[in-house]
Amino acid sequence: MESSDIVSIESVSKTYDTGFKALRNVTLGIRRGEIFALLGPNGAGKTTLISIVCGLVNATEGKVTVNGHDIVKDYRAARSLIGLVPQELTTDSFESVLGTVRFSRGLFGKGPNPAHLERVLRDVWLWDRKDDEIRTHSGGMKRRLLIAKALSHEPQILFLDEPTAGVDVELRKDMWGTVRELRDSGVTTILTTHYIDEAEELADRIGVINNGELILVEEKTRLMRMLGKKQMTIELHEPLSELPERLGGFGLELVNGGSELVFTYDTQADRTGITALLDELNDANIGFRDLHTTQSSLEEIFVNLVKRPT
Ligand SMILES: Nc1ncnc2c1ncn2[C@@H]1O[C@H](COP(=O)(O)OP(=O)(O)OP(=O)(O)O)[C@@H](O)[C@H]1O
Ligand SMILES: [Mg+2]
Repeated sequence: MESSDIVSIESVSKTYDTGFKALRNVTLGIRRGEIFALLGPNGAGKTTLISIVCGLVNATEGKVTVNGHDIVKDYRAARSLIGLVPQELTTDSFESVLGTVRFSRGLFGKGPNPAHLERVLRDVWLWDRKDDEIRTHSGGMKRRLLIAKALSHEPQILFLDEPTAGVDVELRKDMWGTVRELRDSGVTTILTTHYIDEAEELADRIGVINNGELILVEEKTRLMRMLGKKQMTIELHEPLSELPERLGGFGLELVNGGSELVFTYDTQADRTGITALLDELNDANIGFRDLHTTQSSLEEIFVNLVKRPT
């Protein structure tokens, strides 16, 4: 935790009335201006954690501050800095688009600012539809309206709970663009997702949550470097019927009818073993025509992290 953190979550636990423990001792600092992705499977506790920071759910234990304001003792000050786009779509009214964002702004006690509301609606491509009744909108448009509502009172921090669930591919890309533009304008963004490509695409840092426990928090690039396995595939001149004994120590796999050798290595190790392997192949007179390497995706890393015990 650093003093520059805009949100600080300290040892937060949550037990629901049912006795279910949804969060276990979560400590996390969100840095000013970053895009933080909270990644986890269904029921991991993502919405619970966001709801606590936004003051919608009370933590059983622990403390949360938003820009220094305690979210319990200093609720109004903390909440006024936050915009929340909830997971569930609940907008289904006869109200107009513009009327709705105006009303949302008013709820936070902010004076009128038509220019700001216009900017926000333009950012989510709804300015042309500002007079529409909301109930006539598609799910994707409603989701964009929820973003506009969340931004109506000029928050410094935006929470997006599953922002692109049920949104088509094109709109997803548009939303990613919107989130990046918001970050560039200085808004700190925390999003939850179970789409790994979304985290990979957008996040500066990633937190992985599983069973109510925050199992790791890492810079995205470092996470991928740290946990990613690299594989080298060696295409042989002549297929091998079996792995020669002298190559036994490398943990090689013979694939594609014996025409390729796959070598898995740790990118963080001092020695990858590649040189030794190539020497060994040379000594054994095993010729190869090509070799190439691949690195595991964030998806593979994630699946390994949250693998259920078997
Ligand atoms: N009000 C509640 N009372 C009892 N249990 C709850 C309540 N809200 C959530 N839970 C339970 O807490 C756990 C975490 O729920 P949460 O909604 O935080 O998960 P999530 O990570 O957001 O999941 P999803 O990806 O499905 O949105 C779940 O097992 C859920 O059933
Ligand atoms: Mg959720």
